[in-house]
Amino acid sequence: MKTVVLVYSGGLDTSVCIPLMREEYGFDRVVTVTVDVGQPQDDIRQAEERARALGTEHRTVDARSEFVSEYCWPAVKANGDYQGYPISTSIARPLIALKAAEVARELGADAYAHGCTGKGNDQFRIEYVMRTLTPEIPIIAPMREGRLQPDGTREPWTRTEEIEYAAAHGLNVSHTRDRIWSIDENLWGRSIEGGRLEEPDYAPPEDIFHWTRGIDDTPSDPRVITVGLEHGCPISLDGQRMDGLALVTTMNALAGEYGVGRVDIMEDRMLGLKVRENYECPAAVVLLAAHRALEALVCTQGELRFKASVDREWGDLAYRGLWFDPLKEDLEAFIGRVQERVSGEVMIRLHRGSCTVVGRRSPWALYSEELASFDSKTFDQADSEGMVKLHGLQGRMYWSLREAQQRGS
Ligand code: ARG
Repeated sequence: MKTVVLVYSGGLDTSVCIPLMREEYGFDRVVTVTVDVGQPQDDIRQAEERARALGTEHRTVDARSEFVSEYCWPAVKANGDYQGYPISTSIARPLIALKAAEVARELGADAYAHGCTGKGNDQFRIEYVMRTLTPEIPIIAPMREGRLQPDGTREPWTRTEEIEYAAAHGLNVSHTRDRIWSIDENLWGRSIEGGRLEEPDYAPPEDIFHWTRGIDDTPSDPRVITVGLEHGCPISLDGQRMDGLALVTTMNALAGEYGVGRVDIMEDRMLGLKVRENYECPAAVVLLAAHRALEALVCTQGELRFKASVDREWGDLAYRGLWFDPLKEDLEAFIGRVQERVSGEVMIRLHRGSCTVVGRRSPWALYSEELASFDSKTFDQADSEGMVKLHGLQGRMYWSLREAQQRGS
């Protein structure tokens, strides 16, 4: 018996893969794996129902807590960002592939399948993890390969063909027909693309947003919240300790109510395509702001400057899905060392779509009111005089040389 483990979202593409695995790829046993990283419960239920309708052995793996502690929190520590977007889709892919690999190993599967197309980033991220963990198991990407034509060649699937093919195999996806946007959702963010959003100059319509209120619908009074962090990880809201999953979920609802977390960017995809992306990521925006504010308080100037470049490398690796790259471990060794002092509290004002840091405190603050204050007597200002005289010495020498030469010529 030949077994394939299919990474299954329950959407149209991956549903089409199920009968394809049997008819074209010769598998007897299709095991579908849906990994819950915080997508809508309706999506999980739909995946389970469709898997049942198409007669697969189905598994839903609840990876939400692991996603927060092992993926979102490392992203916070690294101020995880790619071109202005708090990386969310990208960090969920390795975990999804990892869970599929666990099932594949357990079942002694003969192959993997996934529904990624040949245009996007996810094919890189998912296959990389599969190849790292189980190099012996081959990977099939039916959507990338395209539909087999009568003459033996392959053409990309059209949406209509997919709907017809699914219907011919007993799956009613007619309601999928009028879905305008392509959505990817996990606890750390919701990404919306497709339709007219592909036009870079088309303003996102209000109805694409599900987690964040439009400015006009947000409360008129601001709300100030206190976020507690310990060793770089968020641990509390307004003094109340919460586990990671609860904290992210609560923060998404709270900041979303104030319209915080919308991001609209042009994103350079791994293959070089520029794609217009809209995100909503209220918790990520607030928690990253809190983390940055605390680092600014406790880190030296040199640490901050160096860490910015480390963070950028980390974000790039994470975006590329290179979750097991030794460079990532190296960077995390530095990041982790710095995080030992990133503990304290940050006060943030949420109001009308903005998230503003209005205060911060930490036992590790490299700040002395005694020294910085205008009224301070501890700081002997005469100590500065010699330093000021020498300030920019080399540049001043250059200017006097230049002037002398101009006079001489
Ligand atoms: N461009 C984002 C990334 O690769 C998200 C892609 C998926 N988004 C979607 N709406 N289908 O990280």
